Amino acid sequence: MKVAMIGAGYVGLVSGACFAEFGTDVHIVDTDASKIEALRAGRMPIYEPGLERLVEENARDGRLSFTTDLKAAVRGADAVFLAVGTPTRRGDGHADLTYVFAAAEQVALAADKPLVLITKSTVPVGTGRQVKAIVRAARPDLAIEVASNPEFLREGNAIGDFMRPDRVVVGVDSDRALAVLKRLYRPLYLIETPVLATSIETAELIKYASNAFLAVKITFINQMADLCEKTGANVHDVARGMGLDGRIGRKFLHAGPGYGGSCFPKDTLALARTAQEMGVPATLVEQTIAANDARKAQMAERVIAACGGSVAGKTIAVLGLTFKPETDDMRDAPSLVILPALVAAGATLRAYDPQPAHARQMLPAAVQFADSAMDAVRDADALVLITEWNEFRAIPPEKLKAAMAGRVIVDLRNVWDPVAMREQGLDYSSIGRGEGAGTSV
Ligand code: UDX
Repeated sequence: MKVAMIGAGYVGLVSGACFAEFGTDVHIVDTDASKIEALRAGRMPIYEPGLERLVEENARDGRLSFTTDLKAAVRGADAVFLAVGTPTRRGDGHADLTYVFAAAEQVALAADKPLVLITKSTVPVGTGRQVKAIVRAARPDLAIEVASNPEFLREGNAIGDFMRPDRVVVGVDSDRALAVLKRLYRPLYLIETPVLATSIETAELIKYASNAFLAVKITFINQMADLCEKTGANVHDVARGMGLDGRIGRKFLHAGPGYGGSCFPKDTLALARTAQEMGVPATLVEQTIAANDARKAQMAERVIAACGGSVAGKTIAVLGLTFKPETDDMRDAPSLVILPALVAAGATLRAYDPQPAHARQMLPAAVQFADSAMDAVRDADALVLITEWNEFRAIPPEKLKAAMAGRVIVDLRNVWDPVAMREQGLDYSSIGRGEGAGTSV
C-alpha cells in the first residue's frame, strides 16, 4: 500500500512516520523545500520525543521519504492524507480551510488511479462534504473516495498516542474508504484498540467535541482552584476526590495558568463559531474561551500582587515558557500573555526553558534568556514557574532560597511542596492551595 501525507507539520510528520513504522510505504509532501531538505538530512523541524529515531530508521529502511513533488507522491497512491494547517482565520475565529481545499484539488488533479482522500487536519463539521465536491469537480472521471480520520495526538507524547491510542475514529461513506483505513490501522486491531466507524460529519465533530470538553474540564478545575484559595480547600484533593468517580475521571483536572497549545484555543473558537452559525450557540464553550483568556491575564496580576503590588525595577526569574513540557511549541502559551504584562509593569525578566528556540522569537526583546534554571534564579527578587518541566521539580527549596535575592515564589503548576517551601521561609504561592490548605496524603 502506498500512502502520501500532504503536510510535514507536527501531525503529518508524526502520523507519516508512525504509518511507516506500521509497515506502509509513506511519502511525506511539503511545499517548504528547506523543511524537506532538513528532513532528508535527518533534522527534525520540531522537537518531539522519539520522532527523530523513528524517521531515521524508517527512511533508512526505505518506507519513509520526503518530497516537494506532490504529483510524484500521489501517483500510484492508495490513500492520501491531508495534514495541512487549519489556523484561525483572522477576524472571525473560523478555521481557515484555504490549505485544505487547495491541497484536495491538487491531489485530485494528480491522481492516476482511484484513491481514498483522508482529512487528518482538524476541520469544521461539513468540510468533508466540501472536499468531496472539490474532488468531484476536479476529477469527474476518477473514483476518489473522501474520509475523515481526526488525530488525538498530544504533543510530547504523540508517538505513544499514535501507537497506543484510546480509540481511532474513521468517518467514511464508502466501503472502500473503510477497507483502506482498516488496512492502514491493522496493527492497532491486534492490541484491541476500538476503531469507531462513523459518518464523515460525526467524525469531524468528535474531534472538536473532545477537545472542547477537555478545555471545559481544565477551565472548571481552574475555577475550583480559585474557590479553593478563597476557602482554604486544596484543589489537588478536590480533583482527586472528583476524579475517583468513574463518570468524571482523574485526567485533565490539573489546575494551572490556563490551557494553551496549538489545538484547544483554536478548536474551541472554531467550534463556537460553527455552533453560532448553525443557530445552536455552544455557550459553555464560549464561556470557557472567555474564562481561559481572562485567566492568563490574571496570572500576571497574581505575580504583581505576590511582589507586593509592584514589579517595577524588580528582577523576576521565569522558569518554563512553552505551553507544556516536552515540546518547544509556544503557540498560545500562557507565557506569551504573562511575560509581556510583567515587562510592561516594569519588571526585568530572566527566563529559562529547556527548549527555548521559539520562545526567543516570540517573547518581547526585553526578556533575557538564561542557560540554566539556576542561572535564571540567581539574585532574582522573585521567581515564577509557568511550565512544569521535570527538571524544575527536582530543585530543592533550600537551593532556591540560597540563590535568590528575594523570597517570592509563584508556582503556577503546583510542582513544589508548599510546606517545604514555607519551612525555608520562602513566600510561596501556588494554584488552589491557599495557606493552611493542608497537603494530600
Ligand atoms: C491536545 C489534545 O490532548 C489532543 O488530543 C489534540 O489532538 C491536540 O490538543 P496538546 O495540545 O498537545 O493536545 O496538549 P495537552 O496535553 O492536551 O494540553 C493542552 C493544554 O492544557 C496545555 O496548555 C496544558 O498545560 C493544559 N492542561 C492540560 C492543564 O492546564 N491541565 C490539565 O489537567 C491538562
